[in-house]
Amino acid sequence: MNISQHDNQGFWSSRLLFVLAVTGATVGLGNIWRFPYMVSEYGGGLFILVYLFFIALIGIPVLMAEIMLGRMGRHSPITGLRIIAEQNGLSRHWQNLGWMATIAGLLILSFYSVIAGWSIAFIFRMAAGVFDNVSAQGVSAIFGRLVGDPEKLLAWHTLFMMLVYVAVSRGLHAGLERTVKILMPALFLVLLLLLAYAIYSGHFTAGVQYMFSSPTEHLDSARGLGFAVLAAMGQAFFTLSLGAGAIMAYAAYLPRSVSIAGVAVTIVLLDTVIAITAGMIIFPLIFANDLGSVSFSNGLDARYGPGLVFQTLPLAFGQMPGGALFGSLFFVLLVLAAWTSAIALMEPSVAYLTERWAMKRRKAAKTISVIAWLIGLGTIFSFNIWSDYRPLSEIAIFSDKTTYHLLDFLASNILLPLSGLLIIFFAGWKLSWKTTEDELSMGKEYCGYAAWRIVARYITPLLLIIVFIYSLSKALGRLAFP
Ligand code: PHE
Repeated sequence: MNISQHDNQGFWSSRLLFVLAVTGATVGLGNIWRFPYMVSEYGGGLFILVYLFFIALIGIPVLMAEIMLGRMGRHSPITGLRIIAEQNGLSRHWQNLGWMATIAGLLILSFYSVIAGWSIAFIFRMAAGVFDNVSAQGVSAIFGRLVGDPEKLLAWHTLFMMLVYVAVSRGLHAGLERTVKILMPALFLVLLLLLAYAIYSGHFTAGVQYMFSSPTEHLDSARGLGFAVLAAMGQAFFTLSLGAGAIMAYAAYLPRSVSIAGVAVTIVLLDTVIAITAGMIIFPLIFANDLGSVSFSNGLDARYGPGLVFQTLPLAFGQMPGGALFGSLFFVLLVLAAWTSAIALMEPSVAYLTERWAMKRRKAAKTISVIAWLIGLGTIFSFNIWSDYRPLSEIAIFSDKTTYHLLDFLASNILLPLSGLLIIFFAGWKLSWKTTEDELSMGKEYCGYAAWRIVARYITPLLLIIVFIYSLSKALGRLAFP
């Protein structure tokens, strides 16, 4: 059972490949679909500001802690945390933290694959010109026909899960590395092409201005400020792949020679720049077509919600020269980004099965794919046969949430930050100065290490707790005074 990842799979072939793989893990639906719609839903510039604040004070220190713990444990997060705890005379119950992160990752994978499936479907719909000169009603009808049909969603969900399975089952070099080596350069190229297209749309400034302005009325309306702050924190975790075991699992294959701080900052910068670029692509196209206040017949206000990329954007592309081509390219981008992220979501649980149950990688990947695929059915049905079903209808704040919404809320806004809190507590308080300083290899840069330690011990956990208490009290307040 104690075969180390080193014996199992070896190390990343280079520092660059590790950075590419982790960037692949962090850049995903979170950047291109979730971030832009949250910006429009929760109030533009203000949301971005809060989000950036969390990225800096929570994201970077937790990312460093996860890379450090992953490399120290050299196993899946579950086994790795147990080994680190034992080596440092701590309770082996710390492995439960690994469980929580791994389960959060599995839950996210389950709905991630469904949305990624929509994106594959949209590549073909865009390319076929289905959206050319279609009205807003037409677009919602097309979207509605897709999500309203469980069989279609099932087919795309299955296809996407198979793509993830193929990469993960081949292991570190033939699977993970080979995939990111091809997909990441393609992703950067497509991103730049689309940015150029958005700039030439002629409404670049208006779109960017909208993004950074603050439509605060949305903040106090539907969701409330407490939810907006919690959502910004959840998004910071989601987009950096924190608290889901993915980073720890990838760092298990990282050689000791690599300096963690440098890698972490590079990854955070890339992820943030790509999220903002995605907004700078999407919002100008929407403004170029004067869709600032379009409404959709299916009751989903697409500009403020998940429909942004799947309804408003196709409507915009449909009215533009070259829209079919660039529109399908946009969804290619989304699929590329989602694929490399989903691989990372699957890795922790697959690594665990190979160590704990001595399963062959292929079999482990098959097992996890099937489990995530099955849980994904809940998300699929949320959009059609269960669309009126509200599992927590008795609880006021959750009374309008479908199974999918609850899954996303539980995983992204609760489990990820909670794992993050425990991870930073473990790294900052439970492990000694010497152990962490050695592993972060910041011995020479005393100031850098001290800064990490202070932030990790005091600022990050405090901030996390404050946000939790604040949003909880706001939410409870809404319960009492609806
Ligand atoms: N970071 C990915 C995204 O932005 C999602 C993800 C979360 C991947 C957690 C791995 C672990 O889409």
